[in-house]
Amino acid sequence: SKEQDFKGKKVLITMGPTQEALDPVRFISNHSSGKMGLALANAFHSRGAEVYVVSGPITLDVDKSKFNWTDVQSAKEMYSASNKLHGLMDICVFAAAVADYAPAQIASEKIKKSDAELTIELVKNVDIALELGKQKRPGQLHIGFALETENEKENANAKLDKKNFDLIVLNSMKEKGAGFQLDTNRVHIFQKDGKSISSEVANKSKIAALILDQIKLAPVWV
Ligand code: PMT
Repeated sequence: SKEQDFKGKKVLITMGPTQEALDPVRFISNHSSGKMGLALANAFHSRGAEVYVVSGPITLDVDKSKFNWTDVQSAKEMYSASNKLHGLMDICVFAAAVADYAPAQIASEKIKKSDAELTIELVKNVDIALELGKQKRPGQLHIGFALETENEKENANAKLDKKNFDLIVLNSMKEKGAGFQLDTNRVHIFQKDGKSISSEVANKSKIAALILDQIKLAPVWV
């Protein structure tokens, strides 16, 4: 039945922001609340899947007992936790807003204010979706997100190819009702074969249901 159409599937979802420490009291992060990822986790759970969540720091009220839940902070930790699970998964959804850069050094003590300006050196973080995409096995499905502010469609499709996704969900910061923090989103879903659909602005739970329906249209779905 439609209700249990993901029964028997193991699903990994990365969600939330990552926090990249500068010193014991400060970090670099972004505005992800985890709402989109949590809506997906709930949708997969209610449709019968076994759901594994790797979440950056979020403040949402979550019933973690429904999921196999791992809390992480940094991109490095998110990668390590996701990498351990990846081989067992049928479906991976990369909904996290992972910091692309992290401070080159984490100061062991609080960085002191002085009269001088301060420059922070950043180094590139691991790209979790890209690295796991290299290990994707036949039959395994990878779903990416793209959060864009310009050339949205081109950038999303470039990420689909580069990261070896089967499907990518574009949300644009330029569209009203879409993106970070909100209870709603508006998405454009691109399949590998070029087919795409666009949603209206809708609650993230409704958007999640739509994404699950689109996953079932992916050519490798069995
Ligand atoms: O959490 P909410 O407040 O509900 O907001 C939802 C959301 C906007 C965060 C979500 O819908 C979303 O778009 N998530 C992806 C945000 C993002 O970082 O997109 P990106 O275009 O920078 O990354 C492309 C893809 O690669 C994403 O699937 C991302 O998870 C993945 N990635 C990126 C960088 C990195 N180092 N590792 C990754 O796995």
